[in-house]
Amino acid sequence: MPVSNSQLSQMFEHVLTLSKVTPNESVAILKSHYSDQRTVAAAFDAAQRLGAKVYGVELPAFNAPKAMGNDLTAYCGDTPLTGNPAAQRALEAADLIIDTMMLLHSPEQEQILKTGTRILLAVEPPEVLARMLPSLEDKARVQAAEKVLQTAKTMHIPSAAGSDFRMDLGQYPTVTEYGFADEPGRWDHWPSGFLFSWPNEGSANGTLVIDKGDILLPFKMYCRESITLEVENGFITGIKGGFEAEYLRDYMKYFDDPEVYGISHVGWGLQPRAQWTAMGLHDKNDGMCMDARAFDGNFLFSTGPNTEVGGTRKTPCHMDIPLRNCTVIVDELTVVNEGKVVAPTDSIG
Ligand SMILES: [Fe+2]
Repeated sequence: MPVSNSQLSQMFEHVLTLSKVTPNESVAILKSHYSDQRTVAAAFDAAQRLGAKVYGVELPAFNAPKAMGNDLTAYCGDTPLTGNPAAQRALEAADLIIDTMMLLHSPEQEQILKTGTRILLAVEPPEVLARMLPSLEDKARVQAAEKVLQTAKTMHIPSAAGSDFRMDLGQYPTVTEYGFADEPGRWDHWPSGFLFSWPNEGSANGTLVIDKGDILLPFKMYCRESITLEVENGFITGIKGGFEAEYLRDYMKYFDDPEVYGISHVGWGLQPRAQWTAMGLHDKNDGMCMDARAFDGNFLFSTGPNTEVGGTRKTPCHMDIPLRNCTVIVDELTVVNEGKVVAPTDSIG
């Protein structure tokens, strides 16, 4: 159902208030020609209503020659900010950046965050922003789970579909996304509600079965058949199944880079207002489908780069793959049982 401009501005005011925007602060709205103009206008409006000093930074679009499709999450590497230090300085001068164009994780973005500037990404359609308007309760649930993940040494994923996947943890930090950027140097994304880390290098092993109904992003496709991934020492070594396995194999092969097969971030969804079914009600170019990444009790794993947390795998191909009905065991604690969040208690929605 459509969201009015007035409602959109009010929602931004709510999220910027949660992000601790004050009249003493500067807010930069980062945009490009493809930004949702209603989102840009609402962000300006809300920041002004809160008394902040607001300004726009407009960058040209950037198309990597090898990228396929319009999805902004599909291709990692250079961004419109690469080699543009003047624009970078303009963004570093802000206390908070509202990113309506999506700078994927990049050295330039990491540099901006290091200066203490906060970044809030908002690129989903207004109706999705409305359904998953973040709250302090979202933050509390995600942080309850963070306490468990950030000290964990192992993760094990069994499922009735046949997954039996294990890894060691601890080499890389835990990252939370709860929908607002309320700490200096924090990057967050409205909407979200999940957490993740990365397996220790070379430690991910076993079988991951992408079952019927599981989702392949950025294809924005519900699988109609199962795909079996064999993982050895941190890398996918086999992609088996029917047509959909063949499609996935061919897509990854196109990048001609062995690092695309690395296992990247792993974690689980904690957002009850995110819906497994929502992707079916949107066109592929409506957004990036955060519903799929955040729905309660998913096991979300991904492939490709790990440079955003200091790893060495710099590769453009990135797949996010949320699985349903998995069990997620962190050390000895079952946090998700057959697709249902069961622990810690404070993380249950
Ligand atoms: Fe991802």
